[in-house]
Amino acid sequence: MKDKIKLAVIGLGNMGIPHTNDIQQIPNAKLAAVCDIIPEKAKQAGTKLGVPFFTNAQECINSPEIDGLVIATPHYFHTPIAIEAMMNGKHVLTEKPIAVHAADAQKMIAAYYKAAEKFPKLVFAAMFQQRTLGYWRKVKDLIASGELGKLIRTTWIITDWFRTQYYYDMGGWRATWQGEGGGVLLNQCPHNLDLYQWLVGMPAKVWGFTGIGKYHHIEVEDEVTGYFEHENGMVGHFITTTAESPGSNRLEIVGENGKLVCENNSILFYRNRTSMLDAIHQSKKAFDKVENWPITIPYPADTGHPHRDILQNFVNAIQVNETLIAPAPEGIHSVSLGNAILYSSFQEKPVRMPIDANAYETFLNGLCEKSVFTKNSSQNQGPTDMTGSFTR
Ligand SMILES: NC(=O)c1ccc[n+]([C@@H]2O[C@H](COP(=O)([O-])OP(=O)(O)OC[C@H]3O[C@@H](n4cnc5c(N)ncnc54)[C@H](O)[C@@H]3O)[C@@H](O)[C@H]2O)c1
Repeated sequence: MKDKIKLAVIGLGNMGIPHTNDIQQIPNAKLAAVCDIIPEKAKQAGTKLGVPFFTNAQECINSPEIDGLVIATPHYFHTPIAIEAMMNGKHVLTEKPIAVHAADAQKMIAAYYKAAEKFPKLVFAAMFQQRTLGYWRKVKDLIASGELGKLIRTTWIITDWFRTQYYYDMGGWRATWQGEGGGVLLNQCPHNLDLYQWLVGMPAKVWGFTGIGKYHHIEVEDEVTGYFEHENGMVGHFITTTAESPGSNRLEIVGENGKLVCENNSILFYRNRTSMLDAIHQSKKAFDKVENWPITIPYPADTGHPHRDILQNFVNAIQVNETLIAPAPEGIHSVSLGNAILYSSFQEKPVRMPIDANAYETFLNGLCEKSVFTKNSSQNQGPTDMTGSFTR
């Protein structure tokens, strides 16, 4: 067993730099290199952190000094870098969303299984750090242990992602079809979409309604309502925007045995004394209600370092085969949900899940071609090959 797992961070922006710092706090990990396509960024970080730096992901992957990679580039690059790394036997922890569209996510998953034939201990994880929080683990535990009984409805109003035009005007790859592949669904909401499917599973059918640049001068969605139908009869609603202030963050999960309300860091369980589904048919009163008791559910405290907890888990998975908190193949679900909402909205009809990944990719390519942003703008880094030239 190796004393320390040697990691490189690819993409040294808002998220990559904190990851380099977190890795240095992990006893059984070593920051072995950093990489960014912008040479000054790579050099500055490498010099400051005292590690080798690369300006090309391929060279970083090829380094024998690296056991695994943490990918914190804009989303489109997660796919080619992760695939190349895994095919070369390097473990991968990718930022969320694991990919821009389901077809890319499928390619990554296929590459992982192919690479694992040669490197059976390969680890492929995703940075869904909210899964480490005691709050969400408790909600998951309540649902999984059957406290709610049959699930009826899940509604998430997650509209506290307010962003100004000034934010969008800062430019870059964000909020463009070519650079990011979407708006609030691709940038702000991947964690919420992941938690949705982690808690209550994937829907069978998705209706999406989106406002495209409705409140901001952007070419992607800034207002979203998703309506979901699940195989088990549960319905879901996912409502989000970057244009509401004050926004809400309220998740209601209703089952026959009561209602969970997750809001303002509290989990309130309105616990039914008897099943409301039974009451519908057994009550002899026309306007009856099921007796219920509101209970505040306690949940465990967090470490205060959710990203570091995922990094630690990734390192432990490599070193001692610890079970992953967020296996990357599960990341295809949040990607597909976001894709399906957008696809349904543009087509003005529901999408059956799993989404037709190739059809959606073709559709997204069409949006990219019509994009008002120029392909070769240095501010707008779209999909590229490993050397940084555009392939689309
Ligand atoms: N888990 C979280 O809480 C969280 C929070 C913020 C961002 N993210 C994710 O992290 C990723 C990066 O976001 P960010 O805000 O740090 O972006 P950023 O623009 O601040 O940084 C991205 C960096 O990647 C570099 N880069 C671009 N293409 C590259 C390539 N091919 N090879 C090497 N480097 C490349 C850029 O030069 C830039 O320095 C996104 O996928 C985003 O969704 C996750």
